[in-house]
Amino acid sequence: MRPSNSVALLLASLAHSILASANVENVLVPGGYRAKANIHAIPARGSLVLVGNEIHVLAANGTIMDKVPSRHDTPARGKPGQLPLTPRTQTGPIAYAYWANAPCAWPISSFATTWEVPPVPETNNGQTLFLYNHIEPNLEAEVLQAVLQYGASAAGGGSFWSVSILYSRGLEVFATPSFPVNPGVTLNGNITLTGPVDPTSATFNYTAQFTNIPGASMDVVDASRLTFATMTLEARNIAVLSDYPSGTTVFSDINLELANGTTPNVKWTPVNDFFDGPGFPTTHIDRDGAADGQITIVY
Ligand SMILES: *[C@@H]1O[C@H](CO)[C@@H](O)[C@H](O)[C@H]1NC(C)=O
Ligand SMILES: *[C@@H]1O[C@H](CO)[C@@H](O)[C@H](O)[C@H]1NC(C)=O
Ligand SMILES: *[C@@H]1O[C@H](CO)[C@@H](O)[C@H](O)[C@H]1NC(C)=O
Ligand SMILES: *[C@@H]1O[C@H](CO)[C@@H](O)[C@H](O)[C@H]1NC(C)=O
Repeated sequence: MRPSNSVALLLASLAHSILASANVENVLVPGGYRAKANIHAIPARGSLVLVGNEIHVLAANGTIMDKVPSRHDTPARGKPGQLPLTPRTQTGPIAYAYWANAPCAWPISSFATTWEVPPVPETNNGQTLFLYNHIEPNLEAEVLQAVLQYGASAAGGGSFWSVSILYSRGLEVFATPSFPVNPGVTLNGNITLTGPVDPTSATFNYTAQFTNIPGASMDVVDASRLTFATMTLEARNIAVLSDYPSGTTVFSDINLELANGTTPNVKWTPVNDFFDGPGFPTTHIDRDGAADGQITIVY
């Protein structure tokens, strides 16, 4: 898609082999495996505060739980849909749709969509499925996402559906607790710019949340300009196709606005990992645009 991809992917695979060779304990997050030491839990109703060159993770009572260097300089993951240089299990099948805002345009001020928790997959072979809307910068390795998952990951979870908000910057990953959700529950993944409303600013603050799940919310400080928006299905350790849920996941009420109060002219681009072969999930644009758009993942 973009010229930085091959470099980012090379660095990602290098980072992965360095981690693997050092025998570091790795855990799964959307996008790949990370060293467990880089995962930072944000307590429910906790917050991130930028203090000098550090991000402080605060509990709801104000206690500092963690201090993490604030860095934008460590590409650590590939973009969704990058072709796998690393073994297939490291990337996993993926189906998504994306739109990228122009780098100098007014920033995205909100990106929200609604989907329903699918039925539990018929078989359990230790797979992990991620369904999320997410937003990231043009170049920096940084991701903010409202994640529904089945199976285990760094955020928790198990052989049931659960939600959490994740933010990763460089190698560091910040995760809210994960909250179990039942099949059929409606989710509203909502990412909002909280400041500043200034297209020339170098950094921005955001809130990401599942609006109807108290605690599944994160305030992010001093992030890059987040420009690249997707609705994504990502899967790991799929043994048979019945490790996916049956039917479809419909991302509806897709609404995206810019900070000058306008709705941009959006054309979603569907991406399917053709290496997955027949029978794997595919992405379909039902209704294009940034006002009440709709995208379906067919399992
Ligand atoms: C503040 O909250 C944290 C996390 O829940 C807890 O570990 C800590 O003991 C609390 N501290 C006080 C002073 O209540
Ligand atoms: C809002 O921002 C977009 C992107 O920068 C620009 O194309 C559009 O003309 C702006 N509209 C108004 C009314 O400012
Ligand atoms: C998203 O969250 C913001 C801030 O909480 C809220 O103002 C907005 O109405 C929400 N949008 C949707 C579509 O839920
Ligand atoms: C982001 O939020 C932090 C903490 O509230 C604040 O100090 C900082 O000025 C904000 N940054 C921007 C770019 O608005």
